[in-house]
Amino acid sequence: MDIDNTLLSIKKFSLTFNLDNEKLIAIDNISFDIAKNSIIGIVGESGSGKSSLGLSILSLHQNDKVDYDGSIIFENKNILEFTNKELQHFRGKDVSMIFQEPMNALNPVMKIGKQIAEPLITHSICSESESKKLVIDMLNKVGMENAKERIHSYPHELSGGMRQRVMIAMSIITNPKLLIADEPTTSLDITISRQILSLIKNAHNEYGISVMFISHDLSVIEAIADKVIVMYLGKVLENSKKEDIVKNPLHPYTKSLFAIAHSIREKDNNSLLPVIGGEVPSALNKPKGCAFHPRCSKCMPICRENQPKESIVGTSKVSCHLYN
Ligand SMILES: Nc1ncnc2c1ncn2[C@@H]1O[C@H](COP(=O)(O)OP(=O)(O)O)[C@@H](O)[C@H]1O
Ligand SMILES: [Mg+2]
Repeated sequence: MDIDNTLLSIKKFSLTFNLDNEKLIAIDNISFDIAKNSIIGIVGESGSGKSSLGLSILSLHQNDKVDYDGSIIFENKNILEFTNKELQHFRGKDVSMIFQEPMNALNPVMKIGKQIAEPLITHSICSESESKKLVIDMLNKVGMENAKERIHSYPHELSGGMRQRVMIAMSIITNPKLLIADEPTTSLDITISRQILSLIKNAHNEYGISVMFISHDLSVIEAIADKVIVMYLGKVLENSKKEDIVKNPLHPYTKSLFAIAHSIREKDNNSLLPVIGGEVPSALNKPKGCAFHPRCSKCMPICRENQPKESIVGTSKVSCHLYN
């Protein structure tokens, strides 16, 4: 990729949680770039390391015993070597993050107007008195009705969808370069979920914010992303442009994720959903060779023995022996 067009570059990055008696490798030697002004989708079942990756970019693992390896480069600097002061500036100003449960990220005893204004004050973007107008404007932009009155509400007085709008307002009010959205629509019903998706897309279009959108649901990723990273047990299995992965998914795992996504869309809620055979193994007990091989319909003898290298197919990258 053209280096000038790269916003963030993840290079041979690994993350290990040091548990009491063992090491859990949550992210295992992954590399990819996030382009400026792009929406990159990260997809994979639970336990693939998606949230850990988002948290790593913001160095939010301080409460855990972790080891990082490799680098995450932002504007020619390795985030993993940031001083506390650099991190303070970086968080909220350059990169911000929203989560599945806004309630966990919002302060329950602070009025939402004040919370949304906080990043503006912290990063000395404006004074407290100037912030009020910006907050109301931003709340209007994210579709909050009666924004002028709503700034006096507490988070528990709002619906889940409205709380997610507050989180989005708070995370984009400083005009960051990257927004990390970790399953922001997963606990919302379908109508509200669509509204939140288009809200994030609008923020991207209007302010040129790049978005790293994390979801276990490929149909959500398909609706929003222009590039897709497929993760499984801490590895990147496929890295493709959205048009390519939709037309021609390469990895058998990606094909299964599409089969699930499309059948959910076509069937009514009561019917049984197809699943990929078997379960995601524990990260503490990863299969030898390709970690996906026990569940793969295309499994060959080599898949049980050797980890596949990354192959380039067209403009896509895929880690699978079918293409090695
Ligand atoms: N704080 C933590 N301490 C120990 N292990 C963790 C912690 N957070 C995540 N993990 C482990 O790391 C792996 C990746 O988890 P996670 O990043 O939450 O995946 P995802 O978001 O894709 O579901 C899992 O095996 C999970 O159990
Ligand atoms: Mg997660």
